[in-house]
This record gives sequence, C-alpha cells and structure tokens, in this order.
Amino acid sequence: MPSFPQHPFTLLANPRFQPAEPYGAHRSALLSAAALSQASDVITSWSGYAITPLHSLPGLARSAGVASLHYKDEGSRFGLGSFKALGGAYAVARLLCRVLGQRLGRSVSHAQLRTDPALRLACADITVTCATDGNHGRSVAWGANMLGCRCVIYIHATVSEGRKAAIERYGAQVVRTSGNYDDSVQQADRDAKTNGWFVISDTSYPGYMDIPRDVMQGYQLMVHEAVSALPQWPTHVFVQAGVGGFAAAVCAYFWERSTEQRPVFVVVEPQQADCLLQSARAGTVVAVKGDLDTLMAGLACGEVSLLAWDILNTGANAFCAIPDAAAVDTMRLLASAQGGDPVIVAGESAVAGLVAALLTAQDSTARTALEMGPDSRVLLFGSEGDTDPALYQQLVGRSAAQVLQDGAPA
Ligand SMILES: Cc1ncc(COP(=O)(O)O)c(C=O)c1O
Repeated sequence: MPSFPQHPFTLLANPRFQPAEPYGAHRSALLSAAALSQASDVITSWSGYAITPLHSLPGLARSAGVASLHYKDEGSRFGLGSFKALGGAYAVARLLCRVLGQRLGRSVSHAQLRTDPALRLACADITVTCATDGNHGRSVAWGANMLGCRCVIYIHATVSEGRKAAIERYGAQVVRTSGNYDDSVQQADRDAKTNGWFVISDTSYPGYMDIPRDVMQGYQLMVHEAVSALPQWPTHVFVQAGVGGFAAAVCAYFWERSTEQRPVFVVVEPQQADCLLQSARAGTVVAVKGDLDTLMAGLACGEVSLLAWDILNTGANAFCAIPDAAAVDTMRLLASAQGGDPVIVAGESAVAGLVAALLTAQDSTARTALEMGPDSRVLLFGSEGDTDPALYQQLVGRSAAQVLQDGAPA
C-alpha cells in the first residue's frame, strides 16, 4: 500500500465560511450553469477536444483511510498539458467576438469567427497579450493562433526556457521581464495601453472583471466533466491555487448546484506563495511580497484575484499551505503506481490538492477539523502534466515517457 511521508503544513479553518449562504444573484452574474453551457458549446467544438480522464486511486484512498480518491488528470488537455487550455483560449474567443461585434455594429458569434474569411482577416489586426508563468500564456497563444489574431506574452525572470519555447510554438512573441510574476503583469498592462492591445489576464482587479470571468467560466467545463464521471457527489474537494481563479471556479460550481450537501472545500497553496491563506487570516485581501520562490511555478502568485476572493472568502471551508518537498514526493508517488493505482504523470503545480488531502488524512487534528473519515469521497484536480519536461525528469528521476512505459502492463 502506498505510504506518504510526513511534512509540516498549515491548515486554517476559514473564519468567514458561511455554510448556509445562498450562491446568490451577484455570483450567478459571474459564473453560472447557463454561461457554462455557452462555454461548453464553444470549447467542445474545437478540434482535439476530448474529455480528460478521471482516475480512481483505490490504493491511496486505502492508505488515507477514506472511501475514495478521484483525480481528474488534465495533463492531456488539448495537447497543451494543463487545464489552462480551457480558460485563456476561451477568453480570447469571447474577446474577439466582442471587439469585432463593436467594430462592425452587429453581433458576431464564435461559429462565424471560425468560418467567415472576412472576420478571420479582421482578427489579424487584433493583438492579445498577458503575463504568465507558463500555462495561461500557452493557452492564450494557442487560442490566438487558432482564431488568427496576434499575440504577445510576458514571462518573468524564473520561467524556464522550456515553458518559453512551448509558448513560442504557437507563434506568439514572448518577452522576458525582470522581477516576479506580479511585475510581469504590470509590464503587460503598460505595454497593452501604449499599443492598443487587449489584455487576457487570468486575474481580476477593480475595473477588469469580464475577461478573468470568461477564463474561469472555461475552467468549469473541467469540473462538469469530472462530476459527470464520478459515481457519487464528492464530500471533500481540495484545489490548488495561484491567484485563486481555478479554485474559485471549482468552488462556485459545487456551491451553485448544492442545496444542502456542499463538499468541504479546501484551497491549497505553496508555503512561499500563500496569498489566499494570508488574506483569509487577515480578513481582507493582502499581497505576499518577495520572489515567491516555489517549485510550483503555476501557483507562485502573491496577489489574489478579486473575483476569486469574492467566492472563496465565504465559500471555502479552509485554506492550506504546503511545502515544495511534499509536492515532489507526491509527483513520485503518482509516477510509481503502487497499491493498484494507475501511473499518473503530474507536474509540480498539479498535485498540491492531493498533497493537502494526504497530509490531512494522516493528521488527526486536521482530519477532525475537515470531518474526513472512512466515508469521505475526495475529489482532486491534477491541473497539469509534465508542462516542463526537463524539470519533471529532474524531480521524478524519469521522463514522462519512461514513467508511462514502466507503468504499462507487461
Ligand atoms: C497547473 C496549474 N495549476 C493551478 C494553477 C492555479 O490557477 P489560479 O492562478 O487560477 O489559481 C495554475 C495557474 O497557472 C496552474 O498553471
């Protein structure tokens, strides 16, 4: 049976969690089942769309003392390696329809965008941009390439050359800035204003809500796929967070659809970039400063997305911060396929939710606080595969191809 080493971690019960608060009209205006249905129509029409696997991990569930662990594996999403393929590209599609609609004085649908040669030509005059630690920028670049607009992506000092090349593959111009992720966000904003470009950000701030909302709406397709494949509604959901858009999209999905039985929802961050946990502790949005030095590149964010905060502030049961070493142990655990579990290739930012679930399971205080027990059905989102193949090999000791080959039945 797989065993999991002890690691120090922080679990903060959310003092503002409101179990009885209705989802409410203002949240429905942000994320809703109706808007998800629109997003689903668009995204499932793209070439290469396929439902990603939902793995059952019975071996890990046994060792964690819970009824089930399910892991939605986003590593194969549109060949881009992460769930982010759903968000940025969808927001690009929505933006192009909006901008061209305004310019032409009529409504422009996504289907027209794909089929009308004149609209495609008009797209070539539009430039989208964003800052990224890799995955979001890859999605925006891919969407821009698919829909025929121009794209400039900003990466910060520590984004690997592998991630840079993966963005350039989709024809985007990539600009490397000094400083951390938040500095690159500011640089992208400044250059967009100067050049008349459109910022497709996955984080929201006052006056900039529509596009990050579209991004989050795209993410909900992943949740819907997972729930459709689950044998039963989960009792616990652990989701990793950078700016919080991903976690909020998942939280909102369950909140909107649950009358009484909302799953216990836990937001998980790296110890070095725990802006949501710190905000929950402070009772208001606070930024984490410094170089946010974590291996979990996709989660290395110091500032919370306001839209995400609006949902997680009262919608999350708890916030958890975990060390990098626990993420690496979990990547190795998933690559080793013990206890009858399938082999899974999971990148550094993919496993934080699973880490928190496993650490909670073996800590009696945390287990009690989150009401985790033998009947618990835990859902996790493996948000990326080996999006940085060289780093994956270095951390796991084998390439993704070797891991899969070693795990294949003889
Ligand atoms: C693989 C992966 N998982 C999770 C996240 C967190 O998403 P968010 O920044 O919306 O919280 C990211 C963000 O880039 C990511 O790349």
